[in-house]
Amino acid sequence: MALPATAALLLAACTMMITSATIAVAWSGFEGVPTMSFDEGFSPLFGEDNMEKSPDGRTVSITLNRYTGSGFISSSYYHHGLFSSSIKLPKDHTAGVVVAFYLSNGDVFEKTHDELDFEFLGNRYRHEWKMQTNVYGNGSTDRGREERYLMPFDPTAESHRFSILWSSSLIVFFVDGVPIREVPRSPAMGADFPSKPMALYVTIWDGSTWATDNGKYKVNYKRGPFTAVFSDLVIRGCRATAAIVADEERDSCAAAEMELLTAEYGVMTARKRMEMRRFRQRQMLYTVCYDTNRYPEAFPECDVNMAERQMYWQWGESKVVRPRVRPRPGRRGKRRPLITAAMAVPPPALVSLQQAD
Ligand SMILES: *[C@@H]1O[C@H](CO)[C@@H](O)[C@H](O)[C@H]1NC(C)=O
Repeated sequence: MALPATAALLLAACTMMITSATIAVAWSGFEGVPTMSFDEGFSPLFGEDNMEKSPDGRTVSITLNRYTGSGFISSSYYHHGLFSSSIKLPKDHTAGVVVAFYLSNGDVFEKTHDELDFEFLGNRYRHEWKMQTNVYGNGSTDRGREERYLMPFDPTAESHRFSILWSSSLIVFFVDGVPIREVPRSPAMGADFPSKPMALYVTIWDGSTWATDNGKYKVNYKRGPFTAVFSDLVIRGCRATAAIVADEERDSCAAAEMELLTAEYGVMTARKRMEMRRFRQRQMLYTVCYDTNRYPEAFPECDVNMAERQMYWQWGESKVVRPRVRPRPGRRGKRRPLITAAMAVPPPALVSLQQAD
């Protein structure tokens, strides 16, 4: 595109203000990052019949139908990197459907794998999609680090950019350039911070057993097929020749690591942290950081804040952020008022969710 950078910025800023009133405009440096085509860096993973590429190879659709889901994987493993895609999720009734954009090396290290997840959890008709992030390192599967959020927009109306930054010192999850979760590496976190090369996985599958209200609502294939669309694929990282690496290879990745640490998107400024806090206050439904039932002592990366803690039940669910049910067409006047005050009693659904955990 030949637009001068400032014009492109302004244009994008306007679009963003229109589509997303709840998020402040954030410029985190994603605009100029080069995108890649499918053939430049990916291979089919499963359900290839349910995968469709645009003629230029820059948009990939994957579909879940009654026969199979589908997915693709980066052709290489990477030592750290920025991994990003614009994603549009399937519309209407999508209970039980899971779309995942994640890094893992679970195919190589069965017991000691690393993983960084964005998981999108479908919902019943007129109920919104939810989104989850998670972090595992060296097989820390008994120490789930889940967080769940409402999305600040309708992810089925148009595509939005989701990004995972993973450097030697920091992990950041971004939505449309806004950081929503930061996991700094600390000695206390030890090997729970992912350290071995990982591949990028992009999948759609049937998560009937858990995805929607803890498995209460299953995939209804009469409402399918379910298609998720990925474009603007980005991987900026150092390719590993194998998942198991020698130190020399790690050293040869110094330049790529430097790019990650110094790029605009890789630097967490005070302003970005403020936007992150705002996103979390408005959109976060659950965080392990305030789930003292499950983890009496918060993880070392948790930025525990006493004022913020009061906004959460002791099982980590937010007292103030509630799922919204979209108003029925033509009944806008009857929309329920937004709930802003803390609720006196937890809704039954949250309690049963907690018990199942
Ligand atoms: C990773 O986990 C394995 C198996 O539990 C353990 O033997 C190893 O010491 C761990 N690595 C680190 C760096 O802690």
